[in-house]
This record gives sequence, C-alpha cells and structure tokens, in this order.
Amino acid sequence: MRILVTGASGWIGSASVTELIAAGHQVVGLVRSDAGAAKVAALGAEFLHGSLEDLPALHAAAREVDGVVHLGYVHDFSRMDDAARIDRAAIETFGDALAGRGGPLLIASGTLGLARGRVGSELDQPDPAVHPRVANAAHALALAQRGVRSIVVRFAPTVHGAGGDHGFVAMLAHIARQRGVSGYLGDGANRWPAVHRLDCAALVRLAIERAAPGAVLHAVAEEGVATRDIAHAIGDALGLQTVAVAPEHAAEHFGWLAAFYGADAPASSAVTRESLGWTPRQPTLLADIAAGHYPGD
Ligand SMILES: NC(=O)c1ccc[n+]([C@@H]2O[C@H](COP(=O)([O-])OP(=O)(O)OC[C@H]3O[C@@H](n4cnc5c(N)ncnc54)[C@H](OP(=O)(O)O)[C@@H]3O)[C@@H](O)[C@H]2O)c1
Repeated sequence: MRILVTGASGWIGSASVTELIAAGHQVVGLVRSDAGAAKVAALGAEFLHGSLEDLPALHAAAREVDGVVHLGYVHDFSRMDDAARIDRAAIETFGDALAGRGGPLLIASGTLGLARGRVGSELDQPDPAVHPRVANAAHALALAQRGVRSIVVRFAPTVHGAGGDHGFVAMLAHIARQRGVSGYLGDGANRWPAVHRLDCAALVRLAIERAAPGAVLHAVAEEGVATRDIAHAIGDALGLQTVAVAPEHAAEHFGWLAAFYGADAPASSAVTRESLGWTPRQPTLLADIAAGHYPGD
C-alpha cells in the first residue's frame, strides 16, 4: 500500500515509517521542516512539506494514497483545546478524502483515563464529553460508516525505547536529576501501562494490513508497571536515592506531571493480541531504564 504518515518525524511515527517500508509499503511522510524532511528521507520514505492545519493539502495528499496513518499531534499543553481542534479537522479531512474507498485511516489516542478502579480494555468506550480528543477518536471510528477502514490505536502513556523518548518517563528522570532524588507518589503502588516504541510500530503496520473497520486497538505490552518500580529504576540508573513524596508535596515536586503520576491506569491488550496476532517482543520499560536510555538531561 501507499501510505501517508503524519508525524513521520516523531517518536512513534519514525519507527512506524521504518516498519512499513520494511514490510514493502510505500510511505509519504508529512513534514514541516527541512530537518523533518531529512529525517524521513533517511528512513527511505518520500516526504511532503505541510502542516496539519493546511487542510486542502492534507485532502489532496490523502487522495493520492491508499491509506493514512495519522500520528502527528500538536503537543502544546498551553493550547490543548486548539490541538484537539486541529486534530479533529485533520481527521475529518482524511475521512472525506478516503470515504467510499475502503482504505485504512489509523489515528492515535491514549489509554489514560479509560477505566476507574479496574483494567481498561479495547471494549471500553470513554464518554466523548470527557475530553475533545476522546471525541475525535469516536468521530474517526464513525467514519467506518462512510466506507473508511477507520482504526483507533490507544497508546500506553509510556512509549519507551532507546534514543529520544520525550514522554512521561523522560520527564520523571529529568525531575529526578533536578531534585537530586527519584520520587514516587504516596506508596507508589499505582500502575502505568507501557510499550516499546518498536512494538508500537509493529502494531501500526499490522493494523494497516489487517484491522477491521472501526477497530479499537491497544498498544500496551505491560498492563501496569508500579510507579514505585519506575522511580527505583530511575534512581538506580542515575545513582540517586529513591524516595516517597507525600501527596501534599506532589505539585511542588513533580509540577504539572503530578496530576498524572498518581493515577492508577492499568490497561490490557488482550483483544488486540487476539485479533491481530500482535506479540510485543522488545525490552520492558524497567529494562530500558536500566540500560541507560533515560539520562534525565
Ligand atoms: N509517545 C507516547 O508516549 C504517546 C502516548 C499516548 C499517545 N501518543 C500519541 O501518539 C501520537 C504520536 O506520538 P509521538 O510520541 O510519536 O509524538 P512526537 O514524537 O511528539 O511527534 C509528533 C509529530 O507531530 C508533528 N507535528 C506536530 N505539530 C505539527 C503540525 N502543526 N503540522 C504537522 N506536523 C506536526 C511533529 O513534527 P516535528 O518533527 O516537525 O515537530 C512530529 O513529527 C500522538 O498523537 C501522541 O499524542 C503518544
């Protein structure tokens, strides 16, 4: 297939480009800078200069391909509503371009906030009113009724790997370096799911090839890693003491990350493994931290 990939220069996107090309697909990566173009070209993909906000260009590009993998996102926490609006417009545009053609439209979502007090699954349908991004996923799934093979991949909040993760665990390592201790909140028994970046890429490729219209998939290799264990692994890797941080000092110690760090958010991927034959094969989160991939710079 010929696939347009947005976010092709990103953490998950660049791995997905490599995986798709290795499987024999042709990739056109959307990029917004010369550096992004050089990165995508080095992976063996074509590139198209453009922004997620240039809807006519997105429409024209999607008309020229068999499917779209939409992994680009404006990760600006100061304009979250704006980011979700841009994402929604891009999804609508891709839906219009692919309508009636049966090609895949894969979009990214997350597992955080899926279920309270239990393990979240692919069958959970979060209330679209909770967050505009949840509504975007519901909107994408509904495109199946218009002849689009729409697929939502909910990524674990920790997509780890070597060289360049800038997500939550990288931020925790950075905070640990700044504070001189590696902290967890309360008793640290709360869990976060995790998945390796290369296992994500394998799932994206399988989904493009095999997922049914309207599929919800979980990129989750480890159902839940206790945040206490994450903190200990960071402390050991950085040669720092690991300490419990009392909830009343959470915001002071962890900044805005405190709101997420205390959450217990295990998620399963049983449906995804069963339906696509996806088997995560890469190192675990704690192994990646122990390997020194989170220097906290
Ligand atoms: N990584 C995780 O732990 C995680 C967890 C759950 C969900 N997700 C979701 O999975 C998707 C991929 O995540 P990621 O970690 O790979 O993200 P990332 O590394 O931050 O990459 C984001 C990509 O989007 C591109 N982009 C941003 N704004 C753009 C714009 N206005 N126009 C065109 N391109 C734009 C970036 O291009 P530049 O290279 O030019 O900046 C980059 O290629 C995102 O939707 C993310 O929210 C990720």
